[in-house]
Amino acid sequence: MQIHETIAGVRAALQSAGRIVFVPTMGNLHDGHIALMRQARAHGDCVVASIFVNRLQFRPGEDFDKYPRTFAADCERLIAAGVDHLFAPSETELYPEPQRYVVEPPAEHATILEGEFRPGHFRGVATVVMKLFAIVRPQAALFGKKDFQQFMVLSAMVREFALPIEVIPGATVRAADGLALSSRNGYLSAAERAEAPRLHRVLNQVVTAIRAGSRDFAALEAAGLAELRAHGWEPDYLAVRRKFDLQSPSAHDSGLVVLAAARLGSTRLIDNLEV
Ligand code: PAJ
Repeated sequence: MQIHETIAGVRAALQSAGRIVFVPTMGNLHDGHIALMRQARAHGDCVVASIFVNRLQFRPGEDFDKYPRTFAADCERLIAAGVDHLFAPSETELYPEPQRYVVEPPAEHATILEGEFRPGHFRGVATVVMKLFAIVRPQAALFGKKDFQQFMVLSAMVREFALPIEVIPGATVRAADGLALSSRNGYLSAAERAEAPRLHRVLNQVVTAIRAGSRDFAALEAAGLAELRAHGWEPDYLAVRRKFDLQSPSAHDSGLVVLAAARLGSTRLIDNLEV
């Protein structure tokens, strides 16, 4: 695997690459990230990963400073997964001057769900991904459905800017007890880690009820929120939404997804399940 720290270096190395498949990450790689790398291999000749903890998508007071940085272990995992190139720029390489030009996702995508509780988050995500796309110039890019709203925002960005990039979803990888793998799981104490799979179980209960014919989405959301609160969680939201635009469904809509974000102690976890 070739490691590139500069924009000029990665551009030169990729000049005569065939079909480039790109998997952007913030590092601290786990099996969810690695599954995307392996899936990428099936979609092209040249698999490019990136590791960059993007300050623009964190709010002051969020975990930018303590976000786990495990570069050596990450490189070993990427090599084992057969990744061809890693782009790992410093902050001054990617943002040599303040990034004043940004990609502003529409409010109906970016101020709901995650965007309501993390204002500006999707502007930061869309801006860095647009910049990484301009540097790597991939023909395809993979994003996990673990971050369902991020997948929707980036798919819409690619579509509306007519970027010549195929956006491919990756299924959520979970621990045996159902907890979705996340770099933030490492913040959990042993007791919190034992409690954490409840988030997935509650989502599962809502999905099961909808599949069984329940259409009282508000009641299902309220019951799920109440169960989380009863076990010490502080939920930001638990919402039944339409998959294609993440808006609230009417009783006859199909193609639904249930999304949730909740804090357990000081750790904020997100997850979702498609109906
Ligand atoms: P990061 O959280 O490192 O995630 C990188 C990619 O891995 C994203 O596409 C994410 O959805 C996917 N992923 C994370 N956990 C997963 C799991 N358990 N199963 C499957 N896929 C999973 O998402 C970001 O970084 C950043 O916002 C980024 C897109 C890199 C822009 O900075």
